[in-house]
Amino acid sequence: MKITFLSHSTLLLELHNKKLLIDPFLSDNPLFDKNILKTYLNKINIDYILITHAHYDHVCDVELFYRYNKNSLIISNYEISNFFYSKKIKTYGMNFGSFVNFPFGKLKYVWASHSSSFKNGIFGGNPGGFLLHSDEGNIYISGDTSLTKEMCTIPNFGKLNISILPIGGRFTMDVKDALIATEYLKCNKVIGVHYNTFDSILINKEKSKNIFYKHYKNLILMNSNTSINI
Ligand code: NI
Ligand code: MN
Repeated sequence: MKITFLSHSTLLLELHNKKLLIDPFLSDNPLFDKNILKTYLNKINIDYILITHAHYDHVCDVELFYRYNKNSLIISNYEISNFFYSKKIKTYGMNFGSFVNFPFGKLKYVWASHSSSFKNGIFGGNPGGFLLHSDEGNIYISGDTSLTKEMCTIPNFGKLNISILPIGGRFTMDVKDALIATEYLKCNKVIGVHYNTFDSILINKEKSKNIFYKHYKNLILMNSNTSINI
């Protein structure tokens, strides 16, 4: 599985010849290079768009990417799926429950301790994250969340290769909470997201990485538009 970090919580996953875009927030993102956005819209075919919750910094560019990828499928919770379905977008709604099989692997929509409303106040269902299991690796994308004991259930389903966790604090976990989360998740390798995009979520990258390093864990903070393979 190839994981590309774009910005904030936006990621591109590539596995089984499918491209999955997670929580697209690029066009209105102060940090993201708009030339790279043009390349993504014009040259890269997205097969699925996964949405963890309805906040603007996670759904901002769902419709934009859908316009460029009319064959893509939006996967989210029931309420967010209905919201986009009403705009004639192809959606697949889930809720906290079982794994569901897709051509790239299986997905479980899992608990996040957060909130979920659209910019105009419309209810966006319960916020969540995704557990993705595939023969190209197992990955947990927490979405925006505080530290929560629900994370202890995640390793029951199988060993994780990597976790994607927010580390910016205030609205989500900070890096110290994320360190505790690694114990809950039984996963020492984390890609940190949801930091430094706004003044309200500033972190010191080197200090944050060191906090993990001192505990023999790996916090990966990726530059925009760079990739790793797991
Ligand atoms: Ni949020
Ligand atoms: Mn957010």
